[in-house]
Amino acid sequence: RTGITRIPVVVHVLWKTPAQNISDAQINSQIDVLNQDFRRTNADVSLTPDPFRPLTADARLEFFLATTAPDGTPSTGIVRKQTTANSFSYDDGVKSNATNGSDAWPSDRYLNIWVCELSDGLLGYAQFPGGAAETDGVVILHSAFGTTGTAAAPFNRGRTATHEIGHWLNLNHIWGDDGTGCAGSDNVADTPNQAASNAGTPTFPSVSCGNGPHGDMFMNYMDYVDDAAMFMFTAGQVARMHACLDGPRSSIGF
Ligand code: ARG
Ligand code: ZN
Ligand code: CA
Repeated sequence: RTGITRIPVVVHVLWKTPAQNISDAQINSQIDVLNQDFRRTNADVSLTPDPFRPLTADARLEFFLATTAPDGTPSTGIVRKQTTANSFSYDDGVKSNATNGSDAWPSDRYLNIWVCELSDGLLGYAQFPGGAAETDGVVILHSAFGTTGTAAAPFNRGRTATHEIGHWLNLNHIWGDDGTGCAGSDNVADTPNQAASNAGTPTFPSVSCGNGPHGDMFMNYMDYVDDAAMFMFTAGQVARMHACLDGPRSSIGF
């Protein structure tokens, strides 16, 4: 896959309290982060430890708020809806009018992002390629969305959406989702095998699964560290995202 792929986005804002009705500025701040992280123009990529820096890659993806609604009429790419729900969770309720959420726009043409209050300590969740069209997209906690407004430390650098869109483009967690073992894989060759998720702001190097001397690539967007501690995708991850855009998601993007 060559060149830049531009992906139209619709942001569904579900709010009960006025604070949850996040501002256009907060939404735009998130789009800006995506356009840095998926183009490797984020300033903090320079913090990547020397041994991993040659692996950092430009995903060549750009995101923009849709300018046309599914029916062809002009749109801001933002759908705001008051809800009676105190919060939403993993059950996809936020994705349907019938459950006090907001119906998806056709997911073969738009990346749906739902922003809302989430229970259960969730920052967000994503649907991998190959699932039902009506629930396709990513869900993000409003206070982990963008860099301004209700965005709250340590998840106020917009990296939850970067991480979830990684899943939406078929990336697995970097530790391979097998608990603390070394058998699980993220199906990417240029990320070190890693035992478990990392959290907070780890110190380099952090060795597991015999992956010394450089250890875990905990600064990867697909680990679980704080927003300020994650700042890169690898070339192998970019190849996997592009395979998704050439395959199950080939109808999206320009
Ligand atoms: N818990 C979420 C997931 O597994 C997202 C974690 C995002 N991390 C962050 N630093 N924002 O998909
Ligand atoms: Zn994840
Ligand atoms: Ca790997």
